[in-house]
Amino acid sequence: MSSKTQNILICGGGNGAHVLAGILSSRENTQTNVLTLHDNEADIWNKALENDVMCCTFPNGSETRGRPNMISKNPADVVPGTNLILISVPAFSHDRYLKAIEPYICCPTTIVGLPGQPGFEFQSRDILRKKSQFVSVMSAVTLPWACRIVEYGRKVKINGTKKSVNVAIIKDTSKGTVNPLLQLQSVLGTPPALNKINHFLELSLMFASVHPGLMYGRWKYWDGIPLSAEPLFYQGTDDFQAKCVTDLDDEIQLVAKEISKRTGVDFQGCASMYDWLTRSYGSAISNPSNLKTTLVTNKAYEGMVHPMIKVKGGYVPDFKHRYLSEDVPFGLVVVKGMAKIVGLKTPVIDEVIRWGQQKLGKVYIEGTELTGEHICETRAPQVYGIKTLKDLQAMMK
Ligand code: NAI
Repeated sequence: MSSKTQNILICGGGNGAHVLAGILSSRENTQTNVLTLHDNEADIWNKALENDVMCCTFPNGSETRGRPNMISKNPADVVPGTNLILISVPAFSHDRYLKAIEPYICCPTTIVGLPGQPGFEFQSRDILRKKSQFVSVMSAVTLPWACRIVEYGRKVKINGTKKSVNVAIIKDTSKGTVNPLLQLQSVLGTPPALNKINHFLELSLMFASVHPGLMYGRWKYWDGIPLSAEPLFYQGTDDFQAKCVTDLDDEIQLVAKEISKRTGVDFQGCASMYDWLTRSYGSAISNPSNLKTTLVTNKAYEGMVHPMIKVKGGYVPDFKHRYLSEDVPFGLVVVKGMAKIVGLKTPVIDEVIRWGQQKLGKVYIEGTELTGEHICETRAPQVYGIKTLKDLQAMMK
């Protein structure tokens, strides 16, 4: 193991992984490796850095430069000896990364879902069960940055940095030698200020509304005619989209309140989307009057467009994008699963899941039941055998 103080592994090869690689590899006391399992990303990234370093640009125009120690698609190359693993990929690939790293974990390690997204707690406990004496597992509610790759492997741009990010400790076996939260804060720097939330289940009970709500609101009544330009995603929010997000959010809040009432756990950090946005982005939002204006006037969202596919005659929506492929099975379906456990009806969530699953070519729910043939591809608690309030309470300890 390196004599350097932190031996960090970044899992992923997308926007978030690029920011982490750019920032952390510029640090003196850090050895940064990257594991990317997707296609031939590792080869492409290595080739891009053959004669160059990575450059990460911040919203104020400043830059960091650095080069990761090793970028590999082979976990045996990069997992052993790592004391911090940051998984920064869409939730649909968490399973692949957790299973790939698990056999190589043999010393105390902190593993962070950055972000974890709903259901990370169920999945990580399940896959890392045999290594529980070594691992502290945390989950961040979101990525600290709004960011996009500018040039693969080389350049990434941060459009906005959140002031604070809620983080949950799912399992802590560090036995006092390392405080995983402080470890992560020292690696990321400030901002964002990491805020430890009261209970890890909170992370599954918020944040599932915005992407599916905006997608449903924009495309539910689309006439199928290609658009001449890609519409703005957040900044193009109209009244109907804002209502869709709010209606989803209201149901999610009801589920959180019911679980809280029935289990006695206080979900202090469960905020509405509006509260979360204003708290996270602060002065980047020029008009925080309501949900619509916080989305439309948030500088961190400048230039972000709907996921679109270029076709003859213009652009059509990409319904396979992570705004649905991540946020339905690893967002709304997880909340729906928890609503089922406490016997709550969720008509708005059901409607958006039904629309989203049809666009994704999947069946998660049938009517209002979690009986679709692809339910096993989601992180609904029922997939992990958590079917009753008693099961949920046992898992919440
Ligand atoms: P991304 O869209 O850039 O992720 C793409 C990457 O995911 C690929 O490059 C690949 O490395 C990996 N991947 C995709 N399919 C895979 C597969 N089948 N197997 C293995 N790996 C696969 O994602 P991004 O932007 O880095 O986001 C990471 C997480 O952060 C997501 O959960 C996202 O929702 C969240 N997030 C992202 C923000 C942003 O501004 N980029 C802002 C807030 C949250």
